[in-house]
Parts: sequence; C-alpha cells; structure tokens
Amino acid sequence: MATKLQWLTVIEPTLASAPPSAAPAAAPSAPGVAPAGVTHPKTIKSFVRRAGRTTTGQAKAFEDFGPRFVLPYAPTPLDAAAAFARSAPLVLEIGFGMGEATAHIAGVRPADNFLCCEVHEPGVGALLKRIGEQGLTNIRILQHDAVEVIDHMLPEGCLDGMHIFFPDPWHKTKHNKRRLIQPPLVAKLAARLKPGGYLHCATDWQPYAEQMLQVLSAEPLLQNTATGFAPQPDYRPLTKFENRGLRLGHGVWDVVFVRRN
Ligand SMILES: C[S@@+](CC[C@H](N)C(=O)[O-])C[C@H]1O[C@@H](n2cnc3c(N)ncnc32)[C@H](O)[C@@H]1O
Repeated sequence: MATKLQWLTVIEPTLASAPPSAAPAAAPSAPGVAPAGVTHPKTIKSFVRRAGRTTTGQAKAFEDFGPRFVLPYAPTPLDAAAAFARSAPLVLEIGFGMGEATAHIAGVRPADNFLCCEVHEPGVGALLKRIGEQGLTNIRILQHDAVEVIDHMLPEGCLDGMHIFFPDPWHKTKHNKRRLIQPPLVAKLAARLKPGGYLHCATDWQPYAEQMLQVLSAEPLLQNTATGFAPQPDYRPLTKFENRGLRLGHGVWDVVFVRRN
C-alpha cells in the first residue's frame, strides 16, 4: 500500500513471542510466568497503524452504520447468531483494507455471514460506506487485531470459511516474522474451521505465495483443494489494486485449503 507507514511499539499478545534478545531486562521468574511488572509478553504485530485521514463520507458512514455493523471487541466467545440476527455459515476475513472485495463477496453470497477484521480506521469507514450504498446486511466488522479476535472470541470449529486477501507481504527479510501466514497462526486458524471449512489466501508477492503454500501444506488439519496453487475462485473479484498489478505484469496466487474431517 502506498500510504506512509508509522511504526508503533506494541506490547500485546499476538503472532509470536519476540526473540529473547528483544525482551526487557527483568528479574528471573518461573518458566511460563511473566516477570514482575510485565503483564503481557512482548509480541510481534502483523500490522502497523497507518497514517490516513477518515473522509467526511467515511465519518458519516461510521455515524449512520457503525452502531449496527461494528461489533465491540470483547475477550469472550462471540454469539454469531445474535450478532448477525440470523444463523448462517460464518466466514472470517482478516485485513479487508478498504473493503472492496469484502463488499463484493457479501453481495454475491447473501446466504453467508461475514465477520471482518481490520485495524485501519479509514478502511472500516470505507466498508461501512459500501454497506450503506449496497444495502448489505450480512457483514459485521471488528476494528481490532484479528489475532486477538481469533484467540478470544472464536471457539474451535466455529467457522465455515476464512479469507486473507493480499495480507501485508513484509518484503524485507528482517520483517518476514510479521507475516500472518506462519505455522502457529495457521494451526489456530485450522482449529477454528469446521471440518470441510475452507481457508482462502491470495497474494501478489511470489515469495509469500510460496510460503503460504508451504505452511498450509505442512498443517496436518488442512488439505489442499488443488495441486499447488488454486484457480481464482469466482467469488473473489479483481480489485482496483490487483488490476493495476496485473497491468504491470505482476502475478497473483490463490491458495485454498479445507479442514480435514
Ligand atoms: C495489504 S492490505 C490488503 C487489504 C485487502 N485485503 C485488499 O486485498 O486490498 C492488508 C490489511 O490487513 C490489515 N491487517 C494486518 N494485520 C491485521 C490484523 N492482525 N488484524 C486486522 N487487520 C490486519 C492491515 O491494516 C491492512 O489494511
């Protein structure tokens, strides 16, 4: 994404523990017990808070549609039927950006419920605006770190599908550890799928595509639906961003795995 990045120091539970060298000096403590004065182990986030202004239209969408479509984060299991006011297959999306693909997919799959996580406020406003313009009713948004949502709000076996489209590629080797698709998180994702539920990732960064294929193939709960990369499923649209990349000759790779029974 072209937006200027702002780095944050974060001390919250998420993807993985930071290397020991990054840990603050502290008195020794029992194994597995945080040292005195440390409430959470220091961990690595898959995102940075990006600069970017919420437009007037997005702010109005927050006012008009936020109360109905944005769920509060709470570290307790989500009652999806209550949140969506209906029971339907539940699909989690991690990192919807400006929500272009999200709104399209919710429109073409009205029988499914989409629980969508994004930390970037203008993106949440943009998706709320699309919800209003398109009259969508099957999306709920959590403006929160998806890793914490998975850890605290989603019990095992509760999801019918998961979408992770163009996750931040973290190109530099020293930042690769921030990538979402790594064995510990993939194990958690797989456990939250129902048997037969699917995990669909897409990226335009070939080294990350290869990492996705390798990590998902190594997860015992998951099975590839294709031999290697998958054909692009018809519900996933070509977004403006993707079209621009394709015009520049970049590739796009989809991987679709299902949870074994
Ligand atoms: C490169 S953008 C892709 C956005 C969108 N999926 C698309 O295809 O255009 C990745 C997005 O994931 C979000 N993100 C990264 N890690 C996240 C996390 N742990 N929880 C929620 N959102 C996250 C970022 O804020 C960013 O907007």
